[in-house]
Amino acid sequence: MQIEEIKDYVREVTSQEFSGHDYLHLERVLQNAELLMQSEENMNQDVIVAAVLLHDLIDDKLTDTVNETIDELRIKMREWGLTDVDRAEVLNIMTHMSYSKNLEQHYKLSLEGEIVQDADRLDALGAIGIGRAFAYGGHANNLMYNPNEIVRENMSEIEYRQHSTVINHFYEKLLKLESTMNTKTAQTIAARRTAFMRFYLDEFMAEIQGEK
Ligand code: ADP
Ligand code: NI
Repeated sequence: MQIEEIKDYVREVTSQEFSGHDYLHLERVLQNAELLMQSEENMNQDVIVAAVLLHDLIDDKLTDTVNETIDELRIKMREWGLTDVDRAEVLNIMTHMSYSKNLEQHYKLSLEGEIVQDADRLDALGAIGIGRAFAYGGHANNLMYNPNEIVRENMSEIEYRQHSTVINHFYEKLLKLESTMNTKTAQTIAARRTAFMRFYLDEFMAEIQGEK
C-alpha cells in the first residue's frame, strides 16, 4: 500500500481545514494507532493506517457530498494498492466509527476499527483535546462558556443544543469518551487525559468565580 501517496492526498484535501480535522490531527491519530497496535495481535495494519488517514474525509464538516467522496475514495484506494476486501473494511470503519453514529445504536467494529476509533478519540482528550475544543469553538463562533448555564454531566441532547459553549462540550461529550475506549492501552491513556481535563475544568471554574 502506498502510504506516502495517501498522506499527500489527505494533506492536500485538509489544507484549508481549521475545524479540528487538519493534517496534524491525522498524524497524531496515526501515532496513537501505532502505539495501540503494539499491544494487539493479528491485525491488518494497512486497513488501520488507511482508515486513520482517511477517516475524517467523509465528515459532514469536511464534505457536503458524502456519497461522492466515498466513490472517489474507492477509486483512490484501488490506485494506492488496497485489496477489494481491505477497501471495503476501511469504508466500513469510516462510516461506523463516529461518536454520533454510535449514540442511538452501538456498532461492533472489527479489531482494526476499534483501534482507529480509540486512536481518534484519544486526540479529543487531554491537553490536545482542550486545545482542539477551544479551536473548534472559535471556528464555530461559539462562546467559551455561558455564566448562566448549569453544567450537568447527564444533560439531555435537547438541553445541550441550547448550550453550545466550549465548556459544555466537555460535559456533553469529552468526559464521556473515556468509558467508550475499546482497548486496554487506550483506556489507560484516556483515564490520565480525562483526569487532566477534570483538573483543568476545576481550575477554569475557580477562576471564573474569582480568586479568593
Ligand atoms: P474527531 O472525531 O476527529 O475527534 P469531531 O468532528 O468530533 O472530530 O471534532 C473535532 C474536534 O472538535 C474534537 O476535538 C472535538 O472535541 C471538537 N469539537 C467538536 N464539536 C465541538 C463543540 N460543539 N464544541 C467544542 N469543541 C467541539
Ligand atoms: Ni478525527
